[in-house]
Amino acid sequence: MPENTIQTIGVIGAGTMGSGIAHVFARSGFSVILCDIQQDFLLKAKDRIRTNLNREAAKGKLPQDQVDQALARITTTTDRTALAQADFAPQIVIEAASERFDLKAELFQSLDKILPAEAILATNTSSISITKLAAQTQRPAQVIGMHFFNPVPVMALVEIIRGLQTNQATYDAVHALSKLLGKTPIEVNDSPGFVSNRVLMPLINEAAFTVMEGVATAEAVDQVFQLGMAHPMGPLTLADFIGLDVCVDILRMLHQGLGDPKYRPCPLLVRMVDAGWLGRKSGRGFYSYP
Ligand code: 3HC
Repeated sequence: MPENTIQTIGVIGAGTMGSGIAHVFARSGFSVILCDIQQDFLLKAKDRIRTNLNREAAKGKLPQDQVDQALARITTTTDRTALAQADFAPQIVIEAASERFDLKAELFQSLDKILPAEAILATNTSSISITKLAAQTQRPAQVIGMHFFNPVPVMALVEIIRGLQTNQATYDAVHALSKLLGKTPIEVNDSPGFVSNRVLMPLINEAAFTVMEGVATAEAVDQVFQLGMAHPMGPLTLADFIGLDVCVDILRMLHQGLGDPKYRPCPLLVRMVDAGWLGRKSGRGFYSYP
């Protein structure tokens, strides 16, 4: 395993995943540049990270004095070109923007121009092809998937996805980095939904079908999985946690990418998304969140 030379990380997107990623890198001693389009998003992200670091300190997982130290390692910016400043330049940027190919393609094209030639471009995408994103850049061998799980500070896994073009040095660097975060990296090849969402989303979808068909209530379905299979959350609570819109988008992508009707989104899920019932973030999904 090569020695890690990465010290500065860029994170694009300050939503739940981007702030979780910034949190775990800063906690592990890395300098982080967190970039989003609005100052407001960055302020919210910093608040969220502070709350979660304090939660870890309260549980004795992190010395209290390291909360401020970790926060001080995170610089925020709304200016993507700030990533190019020489004394600042990250050796890897992890993109955690919204899950739309056109948006990510534009970001990858622009980051490719801004960043030093040796920098790695990683994406936290849950389902978009790494191979296709790599092809947007002049450095396709240095593009890779680094898929974190929510809540990032808690979940042990990083699913590392090799695109067709990804080289071994890039894979090794990202593998070593994941271990320095205290995570367990698992290698998978580029394919729709990778392993995590290709297996998880059909479970969530089928759970929604059982509710739609009146086989059981949402509560009963969730209890079956919590009590019968020791899942920490039942599949419908988890769907609310992930966001029903995100689940439907991933299912559509699996359906389209793999061409198998078994991935078609459950009509109940689609209707709930149409109604704006997106789960926890909108206050209503399979459950209510007053
Ligand atoms: N930051 C730091 N610590 C956190 C945290 C956060 N954001 N959220 C929770 N924690 C810690 C708590 O402090 C607590 O620590 P302790 O074990 O030392 O007491 C621990 O996590 C458990 O939290 P709580 O006691 O508050 O709550 P629960 O016991 O109900 O656990 C949960 C919450 C960790 C979210 C648990 O329910 C769980 O593991 N759920 C499944 C989550 C999951 O499957 N995530 C993957 C989603 S799929 C995905 O992200 C991929 C995407 O592509 C769709």
